[in-house]
Amino acid sequence: MEATFRIVLFLMVMAASAEENLCSCPTNRRTHCAMEQDSCICKALGSNQQVNCSTLTSKCLLMKAEVSPPKGKTYEKPETAFLDNDGLYDPDCENSGIFKARQCNQTDTCWCVNSAGVRRTDKSDTNIQCKKLVRTSWIFIELKHKERKTPFSQSEVASSLLRLIQNRYMLRPTFISSIEYDHPFIKIELKQNASQKSYEDVDIADVAYYFEKDIKLDSHFASNNKFNIAVKGEPLHIENVLIYYMDEIPPEFSMQFLKAGVVAVAVVVLLAILIGIIVLVIMRRWRTGKYEKVEIKEMGEMQINRVS
Ligand SMILES: *[C@@H]1O[C@H](CO)[C@@H](O)[C@H](O)[C@H]1NC(C)=O
Ligand SMILES: *[C@@H]1O[C@H](CO)[C@@H](O)[C@H](O)[C@H]1NC(C)=O
Ligand SMILES: *[C@@H]1O[C@H](CO)[C@@H](O)[C@H](O)[C@H]1NC(C)=O
Repeated sequence: MEATFRIVLFLMVMAASAEENLCSCPTNRRTHCAMEQDSCICKALGSNQQVNCSTLTSKCLLMKAEVSPPKGKTYEKPETAFLDNDGLYDPDCENSGIFKARQCNQTDTCWCVNSAGVRRTDKSDTNIQCKKLVRTSWIFIELKHKERKTPFSQSEVASSLLRLIQNRYMLRPTFISSIEYDHPFIKIELKQNASQKSYEDVDIADVAYYFEKDIKLDSHFASNNKFNIAVKGEPLHIENVLIYYMDEIPPEFSMQFLKAGVVAVAVVVLLAILIGIIVLVIMRRWRTGKYEKVEIKEMGEMQINRVS
């Protein structure tokens, strides 16, 4: 009797886990999925927006899911502790999943972003106007792999990466405009403007984000979809990745911080001169023995020395 019960229980658990496997999102691990009328519906964490698991999820929804508080234990931290969040913020997304042109990170500080969600203006208050979302139509990805005695062949590096970007990130080769290799550096250029991109095409900004996270070992894909790049069967150990974004309209950073820098330097120079003069005056008075109490008071430490 107990044996049959155990078998039934075992079968039930198996069925449940099989169903769970069938209903999950291969392209986005930060989702919760459930069967609804025979189809598997997956919603992104953070936004609860439904995502299409046969293509990439938009970067905005990915970021929103990443900043949503993780389940499970959280340790207590000092109030001033902060996380190195690598440009991550809690973004506002349109219903289509793209970034809103203006982002505020749930605070009163706002800025304008491009279609890759990267800030392209100074930070300002809530009055900042961002007329439209400026498209990032050109992305450079610079990789550095672990140095080797013999460099890989240039054409093999290029064909491996081309295959990877096409198969894993579903980007049509039309948008991969060049792959250059100069041991140990690799430069990949992605170009895609709005008129070329069809409804079914993945966006180059989303491709770059998936790729970046794969390299940083924090993949957006489901855990069974492992990332590995190999050139002729040999693994390519990427040590460093840099991503540059070129917008259709140049960014609008003011020279404000530059000016602030110059002012700070001027103040420091002025202070140094003033301190120099004060010290000189005091030294001279000291030497002539005509020091006054007022001045010594300002130089607390010197007073102690004199007394002892
Ligand atoms: C967004 O806000 C969070 C929490 O207040 C903060 O840790 C993070 O640095 C902010 N990000 C940006 C880009 O301002
Ligand atoms: C889009 O790309 C095509 C081909 O590279 C180019 O001819 C065209 O000028 C571009 N359009 C814009 C608006 O940049
Ligand atoms: C999901 O994405 C694929 C690939 O872009 C597309 O063919 C399909 O129509 C999309 N499905 C839905 C429901 O939008």
